[in-house]
Amino acid sequence: MKILIETERFIIREILPTDNDGMYELHSDPEVHKYLGNSTIAEKEKIIDVINFVRQQYIDTGVGRWAIIDKNTNDFIGWTGLELVTEEINKHINYYDLGYRLIKRFWGQGIATETAYASLEYAFNKLNADEVYARADCNNTGSDNVLKKVGLRFVEKFDLDGVKHNWYKIDRAEFLNKKPSR
Ligand SMILES: CC(C)(COP(=O)(O)OP(=O)(O)OC[C@H]1O[C@@H](n2cnc3c(N)ncnc32)[C@H](O)[C@@H]1OP(=O)(O)O)[C@@H](O)C(=O)NCCC(=O)NCCS
Repeated sequence: MKILIETERFIIREILPTDNDGMYELHSDPEVHKYLGNSTIAEKEKIIDVINFVRQQYIDTGVGRWAIIDKNTNDFIGWTGLELVTEEINKHINYYDLGYRLIKRFWGQGIATETAYASLEYAFNKLNADEVYARADCNNTGSDNVLKKVGLRFVEKFDLDGVKHNWYKIDRAEFLNKKPSR
């Protein structure tokens, strides 16, 4: 198992088929999906399709959402990471999107911030990205706060499938000039 990133409290690695219990807990929870189109997965046997979809992205694009694992307990916390978006969203295409999703019992401990910042470091230092974008439902205050804390700036509001979203961006110079506020 290859560790992609190590932070103070977590390792970040590829999502594996053996993460199915944690992935199911995450993807079946309506509260987690409140601002994600309520697209939960009800049947446990379908979670392997999600895992395989992400693992195919690793092969096709070199990146994808990655598992967050607690260094001390080995708990699967959720995922963070970069997706190379190949469909047009808000007039952008072929860009790196920062995203994250945590199992609810791990919210409120600074985990999204710590691991999202590590994903940005990976984007700018390992992938030599020029910029990274992110989007969040306008009502998703938690996600807005994470994005601002790791240095992204709000650019504009836009419509995604009939839902108002905030569009965020950070470029290399902004990242190098910014230390995370945590
Ligand atoms: C959004 C989410 C990732 C936040 O994870 P987290 O680990 O709890 O976030 P952090 O602890 O790093 O919090 C970062 C900041 O946001 C604030 N915050 C987090 N959740 C919040 C909420 N629901 N409402 C208001 N502020 C919130 C925290 O207080 C913190 O700010 P502070 O340091 O000034 O106190 C988590 O709630 C989640 O997985 N939600 C469901 C999936 C989702 O919406 N993903 C994002 C899609 S765009």
